Amino acid sequence: MEQTLALIKPDAVQRRLVGAIISEIEKNDFQIVAIRTLKLSIDAAKQFYQAHRSKPFFDSLVGYMASGRIFVLLLEKDDAVEAWRKLHGHTDPTQAEIGTLRQRFGIDVQQNSVHAADSLATALDEINFFFGEGQ
Ligand code: TYD
Repeated sequence: MEQTLALIKPDAVQRRLVGAIISEIEKNDFQIVAIRTLKLSIDAAKQFYQAHRSKPFFDSLVGYMASGRIFVLLLEKDDAVEAWRKLHGHTDPTQAEIGTLRQRFGIDVQQNSVHAADSLATALDEINFFFGEGQ
């Protein structure tokens, strides 16, 4: 069974959408095998998004991700990486397919409510980041 990492971002936690998002995750046949909640430090947010460090939106993204509590979920399903990306939808909520979480709940391209690992290799890194030894 494949695993992937999901985040419920500060905009969704603040608007009390955690239950609605988890409900959709379960309706779509993912098993939640671990869950934690925390507020990222600026340094941790920088580390998590290091692949984007040269992008113009990096500082703003890091500030936003450290602005409030997030939920971190370890999801399991056949083809979990692809299935979770499909359910969470396009980066920009205005372009996200109808019924995806970002189309339903996202505010804009930054406050887009959820995160998905973008490949199996990234999923393993991100799972280790939040659930590895020393966490
Ligand atoms: P990206 O990996 O391109 O998208 P996705 O989350 O769909 O895999 O970008 C990572 C995050 O960076 C994205 O979820 C929100 C933020 N971001 C911005 O704040 N502004 C932008 O213009 C883009 C493209 C992304």
